[in-house]
Order: sequence, then structure tokens, then C-alpha cells
Amino acid sequence: MACTGYPGEAWGRRRVNPINQSRKRMNLMLEALAAQPADALLGLIKLYNADPRADKIDLGVGVYRTASGATPVFAAIKSAEARLLETQDSKSYLGPDGDMGFVTALIPYVFGAEFDRARVDGMQAPGGTGAVRLAVEVAARAGVKRVFMGTPSWPNHAQIIAASGLELVPFAHVTPEGTADFAALVAALNTAGPGDAVLLHGCCHNPSGVDYTGQQWDAIAPLLAQRKVLPLLDLAYQGLGEGMEADAYGLRTVLAAVPEALVAYSCDKNFGLYRDRVGAFYAVTGDAGALTRAMANGAAIARASWSMPPDHGAAAVRLVLEDAALTAQWLNELDDMRARIREVRDRLAAAQRVGSVPMAPVGNQNGLFSILPLSPAQILALREDHGVYMAGSGRINIAGLTGDNIEPFLTALRAVTA
Ligand SMILES: Cc1ncc(COP(=O)(O)O)c(C=O)c1O
Repeated sequence: MACTGYPGEAWGRRRVNPINQSRKRMNLMLEALAAQPADALLGLIKLYNADPRADKIDLGVGVYRTASGATPVFAAIKSAEARLLETQDSKSYLGPDGDMGFVTALIPYVFGAEFDRARVDGMQAPGGTGAVRLAVEVAARAGVKRVFMGTPSWPNHAQIIAASGLELVPFAHVTPEGTADFAALVAALNTAGPGDAVLLHGCCHNPSGVDYTGQQWDAIAPLLAQRKVLPLLDLAYQGLGEGMEADAYGLRTVLAAVPEALVAYSCDKNFGLYRDRVGAFYAVTGDAGALTRAMANGAAIARASWSMPPDHGAAAVRLVLEDAALTAQWLNELDDMRARIREVRDRLAAAQRVGSVPMAPVGNQNGLFSILPLSPAQILALREDHGVYMAGSGRINIAGLTGDNIEPFLTALRAVTA
């Protein structure tokens, strides 16, 4: 065979990988890739799994847990899945919009029964994450350059904003007392204007559990309109805070005051579908042409990213919402989850103060998460000395606490903060 000069040619004869010898000469592109920081939460899960202590406590992973520590499939979803198995007669493509029956069935729950349907259109997305990505990318295509956002926030928000080429303008979300820093939001909004977007959590703020009060939303909504900014509303935990209706109060108040907004919605927590990736992206505007274009841009982004969203979970949610009995069952299950989260919060708040940590604010916060003001050394000591695992920010998953482990947790917290 003629010698081609390709460095791999002599590989069989010399038993040395010639590519390794000539790496520099070949100018290999992948060698230029920057290392990426390891995902802190995934690292924590690994450590937790490797910990042999029987009484270890996982407050890291962000999923709901029952009083026995399980994250079960909702019974309403199980029934819907059984029905789906029986009745689904094709898995042919649906298109980048996904299951529009699912998208439409959610509208009254998110926007309210009375909402003007002509103002809203939506499409399915792979989870709330996919929906946030669509909202931020569509905002960028609409000319938005900066996204104002209270911090700390769900870490992926900043990553998505950066990945979409937008500038993040942070402002404080939480006061030292563990309430919403309304003054910081107002001050930030006063420096924002057309061309800016403002990302707000609808309820159950991740990671702090700190939500704006109804009164604060009443003031925020007209301010957003006055500053002519584009609201990006992320509703990922509806029903886990104060109830399905109450948790939508902020979003609905904003939408009643502003001419246009983008909404990212997740069903992964309130239907327990985490790994099935169920979300929706909505645009709200009074202009029919703008609405069509918002959806067309969303569909174009989806087409170039995941092409079409996964079907199964969204189809199961649609079946739940189309059936009155399954809807009632789902809402009951959600009520039970919320009641359990509230019960744990009340128990923590009743402790008032544990060592140096004020616990009372936890009782006024909402949803799965709260942040405890702990130092990195205290978080490490909790993990190493007491088997209590939490995020490096001090975020705890309230639902990780049960009747069995809440007292040991408080004892460990006292020990490291005394
Ligand atoms: C505030 C917020 N938005 C969106 C999401 C995305 O949720 P998912 O992609 O799991 O539906 C999360 C998940 O943790 C979140 O906390």
C-alpha cells in the first residue's frame, strides 16, 4: 500500500499510537476546550451515596420527599400513564410545539380562568429548564441585552443568561432578616428600561424560599410597566407554596399590568415528573402578530436545539387535566405535599434559634428550599461530623426532613453553630 503520510498509518506495525506523538503538529481542536467546573450538587450526591452512615441526612437534592423519604410517582400520574399505555396508538412526531393539548390545558391554572386567551400562546418545552432557555433566547432575539435578576437564584438562570449572550445585572433578593429585599428590586428597576428584561420567580424562590408578598407584587407590577422592561416570569413550583391560586398571584398581577411578558413553567415538581422533563413556554402580548412571531421564534430555537420535546410526561399531565376525577386526585396529592412542607417549616420555625442560626424566618418562607446562614466550615462540619448533606450555599431541602431526622438535624446544627 502506498504511504499516505497519515500519522495513523504505521499504528499496527509500531504498536505506539502515532497520533500521540504528533499531537502538536496536528493542532487538535478539542485540546483547546476549557475545563468546566464540576456540578457541585452532583458531586454532593456522589459523596452522599458513598457515605456508609445509616443515619445520614440528604438535604441537598431538590426533589420532594414524603415523611418516609420517598419521591413517589403521583397516583394521578400513574393512572394517566396506564390510560396512555392503553390508548396511545402512535408515537409519530408532534412537532416543535409538542403536545398543544397539554399547553392549553395548563393555561387556566397558570393564568387564571378569566385570562384573555387571545393574549397568550405557548409551546411545550423540555422541563422548566427548556422553557427558561426559550424565554431568554426569545428575549435576546427581541433585542433584550440585559437581564436583571435577584440573587442568589437558581444557578442555571445565570448559566442560561450567559449562554444566550445576555448580560446579567444582579441585585439582592434577600434581606439579612430572611425576607424579600423589595428596596433592592425597586432600586434595580429604577436603573432599568426598554431593552432590559427582569427575571422573577413566581413563587417558592429557589434557593431562598423567600417570595415577594402580595402587597409587594401589587407595587412591582405597575413599576415593571412604568419602566417598560420585559418581565420573564419563572413558575417552577406552583402549588408547593400556598396553593395553586395563591402561588400564581404575582404572575397574574404582573400580567394584568404589563403589555407583554414571557413565562417559563415547570410541571416537574408539582406533578412529580422530574426526569420526564415537562415544561411549557408562554408568550403574552396584546398584539396578535407579535404573539405569532414569539411562538415562531420559540419553535425555531426548539427546532435547532432539541427539535421536539419529550412527549410522555406532558401527555400524562394532559390526561390528568382533561379528567375531572384525575385532576381532583392530583390537587389532593399536591395539597398533601404542601401541608407536609408547611409542617416541617413550622417545626423548624418553632425552634426560633439554633446556635447562631435564626430559624423563625424559615416559617415565613415557601416551597422546598430555604438558605441557612452557615459558613463553608460549618457546612463541611455538618457533612463530615454529622452526615448532614446540603448545598454549599447553605440551601436545605425542607422536604428532606422527616419526623425521624428533624431532631438529629437540629442537634447537629446546634453542635456546629454553638
Ligand atoms: C426556579 C427554577 N426554575 C426552573 C427550574 C427547572 O426545572 P425543571 O427543568 O426540572 O423542570 C428549576 C429547577 O430546579 C427551578 O428551581
